[in-house]
Order: sequence, then C-alpha cells, then structure tokens
Amino acid sequence: MRRKIVAGNWKMNLSFQEAEELINDLIDVLEEESPEAEVIICPPFPFMELATDYMEEGLFKVGAQNISPFDAGAYTGEVSASMLKSMDLTHCIIGHSERRKYFNEDDKMLTAKVNQAMAHKLIPIFCVGESLPEREAGKHLEVVRRQVRHGLFHLDTDEFAKVVIAYEPVWAIGTGMTATPEQAKDMHAYIRTLITERYGNEVAQATMILYGGSCNSENATEIFAQEGVDGGLIGGASLKVDEFISICKQASV
Ligand code: 13P
Repeated sequence: MRRKIVAGNWKMNLSFQEAEELINDLIDVLEEESPEAEVIICPPFPFMELATDYMEEGLFKVGAQNISPFDAGAYTGEVSASMLKSMDLTHCIIGHSERRKYFNEDDKMLTAKVNQAMAHKLIPIFCVGESLPEREAGKHLEVVRRQVRHGLFHLDTDEFAKVVIAYEPVWAIGTGMTATPEQAKDMHAYIRTLITERYGNEVAQATMILYGGSCNSENATEIFAQEGVDGGLIGGASLKVDEFISICKQASV
C-alpha cells in the first residue's frame, strides 16, 4: 500500500500564540515518533512562518488554504502563489466548499487558481463534494463530475499528475456526519473513473484522493481502510494535537 497523506486544514482558527503552541506541540510529538503518512499542515496566512521555520526538519510539509487567481500586482488583500512558493510552501488547498460558498468561487476562478499553483509549482489539493440536497436528489456524481472536469481537466497529463484531490461532501464538513465508508469508497472510485477516461488508468491509479469531512480519531481507521482512500483532509480535529497525531498514525498502518 502506498504512503497516505494527512493534511490539517486549520481554517480561520487560533490566535498567534495558540498557533505557536500547536506547532510546538506537534513538533514535540512528531520528533518522538514520526508517522509513516505524509503530514501537511495548512495554517492561516499570518501564522505561516511559524510552520515554515520548522519545515527543514522534514516532520511536515506546509500548505496554504487559498491562493490568489492573479499572478502579482494591484490586488489588495490577496496572497499569490509565488509569495507562498518563495516561503517554500509545497501545497495549496483550492476549491474548498467554504470558499465556493462564502466567497463565490466559481469554476472559472478555480481554474485560474489551479493554473497559478501549477505556474509556481505548488501542489493543489483540489476539493470537490456535493451538498446534502444534491446527494438527496441523487445528483452527487454529476456535481463532483462537473467540479473535477471544470477545475482540473484542462491540465495536461504531466500537470495533472501532480494534483491531489480531496473529496469532501459538504454535508459532512464540521457536522459530525461522516460519509459512510461505502459512500467514500464509491465516490473515490467514481473520481478515478473520470480520471481514467481523461488521462488513462496509470495516471488515475497514481492520483492521491483524500477524504475530508468530520474525520476524527474514532473513524479514521475505517475510512482510510477503504479502497481508493489515500488519506484525509482534516478540519476541526487538526486543531487538537492528540487527535491529529492519532489520525496520522491511523493513516500509517
Ligand atoms: P472537518 O474535519 O472539521 O469536518 O472539516 C473538514 C474540512 O473541511 C477540511 O478541509
């Protein structure tokens, strides 16, 4: 079995002091026992340097939660892919449902962000997932198909091969309502079918597809055991050292 990925998305949480404490605690534990899984943490922008300062130790990689669709210049308040690359970040979450919902990020904008990530050699963790009404209406496959195709399928094979996908059903995010292992497995298999159709089986098999949505230390083992689930994108549970480390360990067996 290949090495899984566990990425912590801190979202808009913590003070500077709390972030510092969380990173220090994480380092203490990871230095004692480094999990097999690749660990990525995605703090808010103002706390980024706290994390990048320790990146050289190789205990974790650091990702951003968002990037600008623009390259550089007069875009007040934006943070560019090239800025993040110059701080040695490796990954960037793109298309999170919270950004789609609260910041009106549409397919066109997400394509531009993916292109920025590619241009500056950041690995996109591209999020897809249906809402509850969409699932209840039986439209979940259609929704995810559109998101994957519009967001990523303009990439050539070499570019696409760098992308990580995260399946995050919107109804499972922050709700405690995790997708059943079956639902996760089925959607991951479906996404791989779409990739096979566009890029071929070899690329599809090699693509890392993470699950996200109320993943915690109680359910991680079962989710990660599903065929085609290559790890997790963790929200709330990534803010608690014990929880996050437990999830990382469960991705390491
Ligand atoms: P929760 O783990 O808090 O449900 O959040 C998942 C998520 O949105 C990660 O990006």
